[in-house]
Amino acid sequence: MAESSVGRGVKADAEADAEAPRRFRNALAMFATGVAVITAPREEGLPVGITVASFNSVSLDPPLVLFSVDRRCLSLGDLRTARRYAVNVLAEAQQDISNRFARANSGKWEGIDFGKRDGDNHVLLPDALATFECEPYAQHDGGDHVIFIGRVVRHQARQDGRPLIFFGGKYRALEDSPAAA
Ligand SMILES: Cc1cc2nc3c(=O)[nH]c(=O)nc-3n(C[C@H](O)[C@H](O)[C@H](O)COP(=O)(O)O)c2cc1C
Repeated sequence: MAESSVGRGVKADAEADAEAPRRFRNALAMFATGVAVITAPREEGLPVGITVASFNSVSLDPPLVLFSVDRRCLSLGDLRTARRYAVNVLAEAQQDISNRFARANSGKWEGIDFGKRDGDNHVLLPDALATFECEPYAQHDGGDHVIFIGRVVRHQARQDGRPLIFFGGKYRALEDSPAAA
């Protein structure tokens, strides 16, 4: 009796453990974010471009922002050595851009005019809601991600746009009604 109940306990614990990562991801998904594409020139070939929801502000003085990149991302090596990168905050109408830059090896830049093809210029996506051009400031270990902190050297924002929102694993649109008090 005692043995079998111990056995059930171990199985239940194992099932609970197997569920734990999913429950953690689901809880994290309750934090609504915007969506951004991190872009960086490469010395040769097409620029780096990767969709992130992990963008956030860090410091006003100096002006710092952060995002984190999964160690499995193909872009990681180039981002780690990039001399400059930019955060392009996506507008509501840019869901297709978000999906495109969230797929590795997918012809990310097809049909997009990103300007000069050299390492000396920031790469900016057309029609972004805001852009933050950064110089690398710090990189930190973030477990299975690498945390990038960028120093903002230039930024611009459109006043007319609406943001693309990510919440609960889905894209959302902003509703203009004020939050309930
Ligand atoms: C809405 C959304 C948000 C994402 N946020 C992140 C993120 O913050 N960090 C990350 O490493 N990957 C994130 N991803 C996944 C990457 O965009 C995806 O792994 C991409 O294929 C990486 O490209 P690469 O392997 O060519 O570098 C996100 C994807 C989506 C759709």
